[in-house]
Amino acid sequence: MNVELTYQARIAEYLHIDTEQVSLYWKGRVALYTVLKAMGVGSGDEVVLPAFTCVVVPNAILYLGAIPIYVDINPTVLCCSAEQIEQALTPKTKVILIQNMLGLSFEVEEIVSMAKAKGIYTIEDCTHGFGGKHQGVFNGLRCDASFFSSQWNKPFSTGIGGMLLINNRDLLQSVNLLKSHLIKPSAKDQFILFILIWARTYLLKGFTYWTFIRMYRWLSKKGVVVGSSSASELEGIHMPKDYFKGMSTVQCRAGIKALSTLDHVISQRKISGVSVHDWLANQSKTTVPAEHLAHHAFLKYPILVKDRALFLQHAEKEKIPLGDWFISPLHPVLDSLEPWGLEVSNFPNAVYVSKHIVNLPLDIPVHRLINFLELYKNEII
Ligand SMILES: Cc1ncc(COP(=O)(O)O)c(C=O)c1O
Repeated sequence: MNVELTYQARIAEYLHIDTEQVSLYWKGRVALYTVLKAMGVGSGDEVVLPAFTCVVVPNAILYLGAIPIYVDINPTVLCCSAEQIEQALTPKTKVILIQNMLGLSFEVEEIVSMAKAKGIYTIEDCTHGFGGKHQGVFNGLRCDASFFSSQWNKPFSTGIGGMLLINNRDLLQSVNLLKSHLIKPSAKDQFILFILIWARTYLLKGFTYWTFIRMYRWLSKKGVVVGSSSASELEGIHMPKDYFKGMSTVQCRAGIKALSTLDHVISQRKISGVSVHDWLANQSKTTVPAEHLAHHAFLKYPILVKDRALFLQHAEKEKIPLGDWFISPLHPVLDSLEPWGLEVSNFPNAVYVSKHIVNLPLDIPVHRLINFLELYKNEII
């Protein structure tokens, strides 16, 4: 069996689904683009999505000529409610994108049954949620399709990488046809990725963390290394020329290895997530709702702080690798969101959260995290 098929089979085995339901891509966004296309999304179709996401999500919609229709989030769960989504539906709605945020899902069943009744497709954006469960069912199994990311920092990493799960088998033929057009990653792409995975595994220690991250972000923006996003994806809505790329052997090998330790990683994250939650609740700080704790596998634990820039400085001083994701409703774009059709004044919750959110790493010893929170508790909302 070739390495790509082995990796597909391991993912399927983990999620108790069939191998043919799984396909692999260079990044998660390519998986999203593929399934939107397989659903026949095109010019004039509307796709409903949260106004609190990564810019590459509306990009995939816009590259197909479709229209992103944004919905504000519920600020405690960082996801959209079924009621909010229902208000955004029109006769042109073709797809609802349900996002799992940092491991949290919300009202997925309600949204899916509402969509089914109206003949609208659903896709779960599970880029943060591989291996987690929502009400006893693995994330990604309820919608017509779902996509995952195995980019740095995700529950398991292949450097960068994406997967698509097709639950509605009517879509399989179109997905398979599209897959045959994927661009093959070049030897250079694979070599650079291999070096980055190696450097991250062996060189990314506490004292080198910030230097490495800054250098990586700068080099990837300049297009020198394979990065999370190219400058063109962050600056506008035109599809980069080598966007539609498949997964490489290097990524498949890294994925097979990482998947074998995933259960342990998730159980550790859950223990840390609950400890952080209890500490925040005891201090009367904002927490995710307690009923989320039992089911979810947190990628990161989100908290809100009064002054994010200052809080990030404290974290760097205390050597806590705090995440600064979702600093904009369309992360990480801080300029006008007009090219993506998002008018910020319509989405007050997304704007507020993106101004105050930081996320806590759950893969470091939890006592270090709690000591850090204790030190700076007055700055937490
Ligand atoms: C919510 C969300 N959706 C989609 C993506 C895209 O994933 P990828 O970087 O694998 O394309 C990301 C990136 O992290 C994300 O945070």
